[in-house]
Amino acid sequence: MDRTCSLCGGTGFVKAEGSVRLCECRFSREDVNRVLRIPRRFWDAELDNYECETPSENEAYKEAYIFASSFDPEEGRGLTLVGPPGVGKTHLAVGILKKIYREKGIKGLFFDTKDLIYKLKSLMDEGKTNRAIKAILNRPLIVLDDLGSERLSEWQRELISYIISYRYNELKSTIITTNFSLSGEEKKDRRIRKVAEGIDLPKVLMSERLDPSTVSRIYEMSKVVYIKGRDRRRL
Ligand SMILES: Nc1ncnc2c1ncn2[C@@H]1O[C@H](COP(=O)(O)OP(=O)(O)O)[C@@H](O)[C@H]1O
Ligand SMILES: [Mg+2]
Repeated sequence: MDRTCSLCGGTGFVKAEGSVRLCECRFSREDVNRVLRIPRRFWDAELDNYECETPSENEAYKEAYIFASSFDPEEGRGLTLVGPPGVGKTHLAVGILKKIYREKGIKGLFFDTKDLIYKLKSLMDEGKTNRAIKAILNRPLIVLDDLGSERLSEWQRELISYIISYRYNELKSTIITTNFSLSGEEKKDRRIRKVAEGIDLPKVLMSERLDPSTVSRIYEMSKVVYIKGRDRRRL
């Protein structure tokens, strides 16, 4: 079946009153989800249907909204969402990607972090290195979902370090979701003490899974947001 849009011929743009606007085909549910490679489970996730039940969820929603509406692909600013399972980290990350695509036409990409490192490894093993890998790494915006959710082997850690430092150096934006505490010192850290208050920080530290230089870059390239809420998969 030919899926080329009859309105824009697949370009994504249509002429309107002397100017050019984004074609409506960009906004159909299926199209947005496919373009951004959103996993099916999250096809309905939007910033607009993220419910805020706790002050912390409210804060996280606000940060996500501000991040999406002020997104500038030249700045390399990122967002790191930290919290226990089921509080909506992936939901928010997906909502941000969609809002940025719809409003600014910027195509981010969603990756489960583990999938991405296996994908990059197989590209490297096939000798396809640079072009295919750079096409991913040079995207203006990517989501690394569930960073370090499992114990990592040496090559996996190295690859994550490579991805983060590449994006750090090239000023590319990355949204990270993770179950880790970044430092374990959040309650003493002046910059984030307020948001970390009253939050049961995850016991595993990111520095136990990733190189210290990677963690330090993540700190510098992103705003860190801690989320406290109920596990929506259970309750
Ligand atoms: N605040 C929320 N409002 C609406 N749905 C939510 C919210 N938080 C989580 N969900 C839903 O609950 C499920 C689990 O959320 P998810 O984003 O996968 O959590 P996490 O990534 O933090 O483990 C998903 O189906 C998600 O859409
Ligand atoms: Mg998740």
